[in-house]
Amino acid sequence: MENEKVLIAPSVLSADFSRLGEEIKAIEKAGADWVHIDVMDGVFVPNITIGPLVVKSVRDHTGLFFDTHLMIQDPVKYVDEFAKAGSDMISFHVEACPAPEEVIARIRRAGKKAGISVKPGTPLSYIEPILKMVDMVLVMTVEPGFGGQSFMEDMMPKIRELRTKFSGIIQVDGGINVGTAAKAVAAGANVLVAGTAVFGREDYGKAITELRGK
Ligand code: DX5
Ligand code: ZN
Repeated sequence: MENEKVLIAPSVLSADFSRLGEEIKAIEKAGADWVHIDVMDGVFVPNITIGPLVVKSVRDHTGLFFDTHLMIQDPVKYVDEFAKAGSDMISFHVEACPAPEEVIARIRRAGKKAGISVKPGTPLSYIEPILKMVDMVLVMTVEPGFGGQSFMEDMMPKIRELRTKFSGIIQVDGGINVGTAAKAVAAGANVLVAGTAVFGREDYGKAITELRGK
């Protein structure tokens, strides 16, 4: 996996929501690999963003892979709706549900890729039993809820350890910029989420190229 291309997934959390369709088209044109869609419910995290209706409304604007990061309590309730709305990957938090296996099974039944996410304080032991069931592990490098926070470099040992146990996709989310991207990739990550480091820049293409380390 280490030799494969590192994918860049701009997070629309930092996009202009009044022009969301255009913003997604712009990152597609700028060379983004995926689009990362942050779904927050005001319960699991202290912020509220978007739901399946918005995912559905932007689906026709782009062919990009929709990487949906559910930061919601009881994600099993909404898997089918996000799948129907056009999500390609559905990631949810292990801390948000009593039976992650059920959520994964529901995502699989909907024919989508499944990701499990861990907050900074959550040890890998919480997800070890289900690693073989998922396509992706999302390691948070900030407390989920808001864009523009500082990268927690002390999560790098967690990524390194995960890489010894898991050969699938490791995604890193929170505080990614040119400097921290290199650290995350060196630790074993292969998909980088970046909100402010892409949408906060004038030139999205330049921002994405720089994040690739080229
Ligand atoms: C935070 C979200 C992130 C956020 C990252 O809860 O999961 O995807 O958009 O934003 P930046 O890249 O600005 O840290
Ligand atoms: Zn996210």
